[in-house]
Amino acid sequence: MAKNQVSSSVIKRLPRYYRFLEELKNQNITRISSQELAELMGFTASQIRQDLNCFGGFGQQGYGYNVSQLYMEIAKILGIDKLQKTILIGAGNLGKAVASHIEFEKKGCQLIGIFDNNPELCGQIIAGLNVLDISQLEKFCHKHNPAVAVLCIPKSVGKDMSERLINLGIYAFWNFSHYDIKTSNHKNIIVENVHLADSLMILSYKINNKEQS
Ligand code: NAI
Repeated sequence: MAKNQVSSSVIKRLPRYYRFLEELKNQNITRISSQELAELMGFTASQIRQDLNCFGGFGQQGYGYNVSQLYMEIAKILGIDKLQKTILIGAGNLGKAVASHIEFEKKGCQLIGIFDNNPELCGQIIAGLNVLDISQLEKFCHKHNPAVAVLCIPKSVGKDMSERLINLGIYAFWNFSHYDIKTSNHKNIIVENVHLADSLMILSYKINNKEQS
């Protein structure tokens, strides 16, 4: 199947496959049947076969899946076997938490710079990096050519900052800022918006639609 024909729901499930396979690998489990994987992940075996068939299958009749091989294949499909140079803008509460707790290198990104405009934060070390003043952004980008920006800044500065970063060659945004980056104006820009509270609202929906026992 051509890459652009794979449905977004299949793509959304890939990180979950990757996490479960990583756990299996860490437990030295070398092979697993689609049935066993399904039970572990809360999917059906046929769902798993259908999902993986989008990329060529990987299983063998009577053997199941080779855990390490499938783990590596999914890493390749997700593109996390390569590292994209990444910068983070906004070293406040959220920026600090994201920079310190996300294992960027395991997720295909190499965090190479953190920026803020608050002089009190500049010079602090977060995730092993010196927080740089935002005035150094242009010089830094010309020198290092980052591809990805993580936006942990307020919505009010999202527009100006995203335009500034696009002009500096950034083409992919992991956007926590709540500002809606308009990809219609920039055809080659890729945006993944994160709104943690959306997940909370989904929980609320499920609570409200719970069957009465
Ligand atoms: P914060 O105020 O602690 O951090 C924001 C940082 O951005 C500050 O350090 C500030 O100096 C910096 N900043 C502001 N304008 C800047 C500019 N032009 N250039 C460089 N740095 C600049 O706020 P917090 O708690 O870290 O949240 C950041 C933003 O993320 C907020 O707008 C908040 O609404 C949003 N947020 C989004 C979430 C999500 O799920 N998408 C979850 C939590 C917060």
